Amino acid sequence: MRSSHWYAGTDRNAYIHRAWMRRGLPREAFEGDRPHIAIANTASDLTPCNAHLDEVATSVKQGIWEAGGVPLNLPVMSLGETNVRPTAMLWRNLAAMATEEMLRANPIDGVVLLGGCDKTIPSLLMAAASVDLPAVIVPGGPMLTGHFRGVPLGCGTDVWRLSEEVRAGTLSREAFLRSESAMIRSKGHCNTMGTASTMACVAEALGMTIPGTAGTPAPDSRLLERAHETGRLAVELVAEDRTPSRVLTRASFHNAIVTLAAIGGSTNAVVHLLAIAGRLGVELTLDDFDRIGSGVPLLVDLQPAGRHLMDDLFRAGGLLAVLKEVGDLLDPSAPTVTGEPLTAYLDAAEIWDDTVIRRRSAPLLADAGIAVLRGNLAPRGAVIKPAAASPGLLRHRGRAVVFDSVEDLNARLDSPDLDVDETSVLILRGCGPRGYPGMPEVGNLPLPRRLLEKGVRDMVRVSDARMSGTAYGTVVLHTAPEAAVGGPLALVRTGDPIVLDVPARRLDIDLPQRELSGRTPVTTGFAEPARGWQRLYIDHVLQADQGADLDFLVGSSGHEVSRESH
Ligand code: FES
Ligand code: MG
Repeated sequence: MRSSHWYAGTDRNAYIHRAWMRRGLPREAFEGDRPHIAIANTASDLTPCNAHLDEVATSVKQGIWEAGGVPLNLPVMSLGETNVRPTAMLWRNLAAMATEEMLRANPIDGVVLLGGCDKTIPSLLMAAASVDLPAVIVPGGPMLTGHFRGVPLGCGTDVWRLSEEVRAGTLSREAFLRSESAMIRSKGHCNTMGTASTMACVAEALGMTIPGTAGTPAPDSRLLERAHETGRLAVELVAEDRTPSRVLTRASFHNAIVTLAAIGGSTNAVVHLLAIAGRLGVELTLDDFDRIGSGVPLLVDLQPAGRHLMDDLFRAGGLLAVLKEVGDLLDPSAPTVTGEPLTAYLDAAEIWDDTVIRRRSAPLLADAGIAVLRGNLAPRGAVIKPAAASPGLLRHRGRAVVFDSVEDLNARLDSPDLDVDETSVLILRGCGPRGYPGMPEVGNLPLPRRLLEKGVRDMVRVSDARMSGTAYGTVVLHTAPEAAVGGPLALVRTGDPIVLDVPARRLDIDLPQRELSGRTPVTTGFAEPARGWQRLYIDHVLQADQGADLDFLVGSSGHEVSRESH
């Protein structure tokens, strides 16, 4: 046991390690083959979507005790998507690094990861991959569906929709504000197929949950039952030395990408999966998302791509029922934490409501994968989620209207002087990993009020930012290289002809290269933090096509026990 490096023996240091931990733990907790299992717990009142995870941890603990292990709650850095500024993404790598280091530094043999809100599952998986101790995740689960005036409200998605209705003058501000108390009905994370739901499903597709766990609503008793079972499994994982590097193979990433397409998941999963793969040394590129995802049908009718919410998906059969429909596209060699391949769990799955989970013969969209675009505006790629876009805009030519920052956008968007119509292409730069910093979710730029009032609800938008997984529209994101490192986005001028051609996977400024090369890139408006994490971050962050991890965090340091502290 790794933990025996601390606890075994009769010398002074073993005495210290045991004595300070004894506060109620029996002597036997430190003897024999009892694995010490950390519960990496992102519960926090400031991460409201994860605030219930202490309750989940209690069930995990029971399972660990029952199987002969010793459970230890380890609060880890937590990121509340709606609260943390300038964007939770700026702190994802810090959370991953801190968790990795604390797992390695402590007398731990294995870990149960508890996450939910958007960045928490990615940061936990990155940490687990880099420390490579046996690990399993319990996603905290989505919240129940809230209703307003008799209709369901989708977390996030309906905030975007209703706020645009207010700007368009079709909804009163008073009614909008009344919906606020109905938006969040219960504990749990956003109930749309936003980033939290996506990453829970993706974690399961990767093999890192007990299959059938992802998507169990946070208040559902079955979540605690699964948490208990996961605690028991964690003890087995240690006995079998079933580490993340053995579970997370290239085949697992293949299955995650098929899943991402079939559920209509968030574009944020692209950066997170690239970062997780980078920690493991699994070869995964941006193009794999297009290659593996293309031809995968969209089967889950959930907001923002469709109508329903996570509670409906669970009722309709859950993720495994979705995966059964695309079972032939999955790699059967991909293992899971249980030791069984993911595909072994599909036979027993069933669709109970095929209006929520479509059958393969009647998909919502035949080809749902995230499209990777290239061209002289995105030499290292950009992404778009066709499932959440307007079909009529997927091939589009329009004049650029360029904004240098979010502040510039807010100042000018509704100005009567802004020369814009519905065919224009709105461009926002300075919002990439380095420039903002942290690559915020501002890529779904609001539309000019004048056009909203005319009934326009979508336009082509291009940026180096991300967008919320709950958002929608014909939105090109993650353009790389970003403007702040001299990418071509820094060269675009208002009035330039921009050509988007999703079927041909192209994104171009339709001007001769000669003309573009002669231009001076915009260099103002980018963050230049002087010290601290933000300085370290901008000096080392990789571009979106490489997962926006820090260059020195790529890879694994394993879990070797370090030198004594006393
Ligand atoms: Fe936490 Fe959406 S804000 S999951
Ligand atoms: Mg988000």
